[in-house]
Amino acid sequence: MGKYTLLKKSHKVRRGRFETVHGTIQTPVFMNVGTLAAIKGAVSSMDLKEIGCQVELSNTYHLHLRPGDQVVKKLGGLHKFMNWDRPILTDSGGFQVFSLSHIRKIQEEGVYFNSHIDGRKIFMGPEESMQIQSNLGSTIAMAFDECIPNPSPRDYVVKSVERTTRWLQRCKVEMDRLNSLDHTVNKNQMLFGINQGGVYEDIRIEHAKTISKMNLDGYAIGGLAVGETHEEMYRIIDAVVPHLPQEKPIYLMGVGLPSNILEAVDRGVDFFDCVLPARNGRHGHVFTKHGKINLMNAKYELDDSPIDEGCQCPTCKHYSRAYIRHLFKAKEMLAMRLCVLHNLYFYNKLMEDIRNAIDGDYFKEFKEEKLANWNGKA
Ligand code: GUN
Ligand code: ZN
Repeated sequence: MGKYTLLKKSHKVRRGRFETVHGTIQTPVFMNVGTLAAIKGAVSSMDLKEIGCQVELSNTYHLHLRPGDQVVKKLGGLHKFMNWDRPILTDSGGFQVFSLSHIRKIQEEGVYFNSHIDGRKIFMGPEESMQIQSNLGSTIAMAFDECIPNPSPRDYVVKSVERTTRWLQRCKVEMDRLNSLDHTVNKNQMLFGINQGGVYEDIRIEHAKTISKMNLDGYAIGGLAVGETHEEMYRIIDAVVPHLPQEKPIYLMGVGLPSNILEAVDRGVDFFDCVLPARNGRHGHVFTKHGKINLMNAKYELDDSPIDEGCQCPTCKHYSRAYIRHLFKAKEMLAMRLCVLHNLYFYNKLMEDIRNAIDGDYFKEFKEEKLANWNGKA
């Protein structure tokens, strides 16, 4: 139900437009992570508009546990619930089940696990994940997959990827069924498939070819930034991207630092998401044109300049490094909020600058200049 239009391509770099029922997404894009239907750090949906956010990401696993996807559905779906009318992507739970829950058992039908909130036993398989995401009514649903840590033994990866493929087929059947029902929140909900295969190029490529035949609305590369080096991650992206449908958006899940994003855009990736800008911001680690800095550092005690000179975010327009440092020391909530706003603005603005650089045929120069300025610190 989405329409991806490739506006421009130079070497592997793609500049595109993705039309959805909740509006058009200009790509490459960064999706802002609001796991529990809120960006951590007291950032509202009104703030998100102000800082240029195009897409918000939420989580099936978390919203199923609390407040419950049935509750969200009764309240009109996730868009209405959190007052966000632009696109929302929901992750399937496939990652969170493995990273957050205790005592889990993976079987062909799905995963048995204990809630990280109250320990109660829960089952989630492809059908349950699709049903939850359908109740939430997100713009884009993600397939239910197994995200394997790197490195994992080859024979385990082979078995896991085969199961993820069977799960994907079940996801597609269930999503088609749910979209055809009368009381579905968003009958145009899209489904993206997820490529897995650890650090094994041949497994990755074969899996990419298999899922490419399934006519999904988009394709993600999962199972990266889970233990491997940056170089290994780039090697896998290089291997996989040519085997995914070029007329569909390509999404690199959970990545990453600004430098990782530049490298991945250079390799043909269109969608990104990561908790880093919000998580770093909550600890006073903020991104600047000279790399990341730590506002807790004593040298900012009397620094009355903004976090990043020239930054047009709501924080930098009004507050100094010294003031924000004081807020952190005094444990004022405003400290986190101001830093998260700045960091999210930084990421969204980076993507806008990337799009302009592709449009203007200067992406390579742009990338080299940014990487040199960040100097390994972003
Ligand atoms: N987020 C980051 N990596 C992954 C992945 O491999 N699968 C899913 N579902 N979500 C992710
Ligand atoms: Zn700023």
